[in-house]
Amino acid sequence: GWKAEKGEKVYLRRHTGNFHEVSLVRPEDVEPGGFETVFPFRESEREDEHALVAALKRADAPVMLIRLRPNQAVTKRAGQEDFNYGDLYAYSKICTHLGCPTSLFEQQTGLLLCPCHQSQFDVFEYAKPRFGPATRPLPQLPITVDEDGYLVARSDFIEAVGPAFWERKS
Ligand code: FES
Repeated sequence: GWKAEKGEKVYLRRHTGNFHEVSLVRPEDVEPGGFETVFPFRESEREDEHALVAALKRADAPVMLIRLRPNQAVTKRAGQEDFNYGDLYAYSKICTHLGCPTSLFEQQTGLLLCPCHQSQFDVFEYAKPRFGPATRPLPQLPITVDEDGYLVARSDFIEAVGPAFWERKS
């Protein structure tokens, strides 16, 4: 996984197909009801090509960036701060069952779908599992925008990414 030094910026980038191209994301780049896969990388990795490629390859890195429609809302978690930016929500793309990437967001139902064993995660309920073998919500990535209007992570994921049997190194 990645850890940002205190005060270091963690950008979100989209995968353009070119490892070396850094394409940052603004909130308005995602349509209401739309979603996009993005990858967090540290500011210090921006100028370092190897670090940048490594950041893109980290197994726990992919993030599903989802923009809800204006009439949709997420149930507030009691006693928890919000980790979204407006109608934008970022969750680990890695299924908590066996680690496949979730691949589809159904905007009507708010369900995120994993194709491997059909787990479904409810984005309106902070990505808790609704159906299938996954038992743990997809961890959320707290996001905001920086002074240039680009989406950045406010901190690491709020919980461990991936299935429980993944070895965790911090
Ligand atoms: Fe996603 Fe099994 S890995 S449902």
